[in-house]
Amino acid sequence: MLEFKNVTKQYRSGMFGTHLTKAVDDVSFCVGENERLGLLGESGCGKSTIAQLAMKLLKPSKGSIEYNGKNIKHMSRSEMKNYRKNVQIIFQNPQQVFNPRMKFRETISEPVRIYNLASSPEEEKKIISEHMEMFGLPEELFDRYPQEISGGQAQRIAIMRILMLKPEIIIADEPTTMLDVSVQAQILELLKEVMDKNNITLIFVSHDLDVVRAMCKRIMVIKDGQVVEQGSVDDIFDRPENEYTRMLVDSLKE
Ligand SMILES: Nc1ncnc2c1ncn2[C@@H]1O[C@H](COP(=O)(O)OP(=O)(O)OP(=O)(O)O)[C@@H](O)[C@H]1O
Ligand SMILES: [Mg+2]
Repeated sequence: MLEFKNVTKQYRSGMFGTHLTKAVDDVSFCVGENERLGLLGESGCGKSTIAQLAMKLLKPSKGSIEYNGKNIKHMSRSEMKNYRKNVQIIFQNPQQVFNPRMKFRETISEPVRIYNLASSPEEEKKIISEHMEMFGLPEELFDRYPQEISGGQAQRIAIMRILMLKPEIIIADEPTTMLDVSVQAQILELLKEVMDKNNITLIFVSHDLDVVRAMCKRIMVIKDGQVVEQGSVDDIFDRPENEYTRMLVDSLKE
């Protein structure tokens, strides 16, 4: 469904843009229907860059990203709209996606309108209140601004907004690292439930092997922008082949 083919992303930095950093280096992988893929690696290894490339927030320096066999670079406007609906991202900081000057009533109904998910105002109301209930969100949040709710509530709303679109793929980029420990487990549980119920493909980005292990079936280990090992969760955990992976696993078992 979504495939990275030898994707490299270089950033230019320095005063004259002469310094090149290879944030992602010749990365290839593929996710199919209903898969759970974990991207695991330490800070700065290129995980968020991969997520942003998939969202077309960044362009690859080399290689291609294909969705159902079509390079996302060559998509028409309507193909891109379809892609943008079907491939969604959950950020580390949920506040990042909200307009600080918009009350949640508007923020929540925005995707319903943009993608014509409801044929009448009544249907829009129904879709929204069903989802609010499913996510345990009280309707009093409608009249609040983003800065007036908790991190856990904000992440719930962010996930709910995405779910209303019925996407095929969700990329979660460290979705719980900014939340209180007590809320982290709840959000992960919610995410898992949502994925299972709706047959959504998940690409889960994390530096935490334990969390990836709980969320995913397959893991790709990344170091310095390169994939150093990939395999099933059990293989990676019980029989790591790469030295770096072994170090990650050992540190967790200690
Ligand atoms: N806009 C940019 N310009 C230059 N270099 C960048 C830019 N964004 C990221 N980088 C560099 O690219 C590399 C990969 O960054 P990226 O954000 O993808 O890492 P990450 O694995 O998501 O890290 P973290 O776990 O801390 O979120 C890092 O070395 C980073 O410093
Ligand atoms: Mg990151």
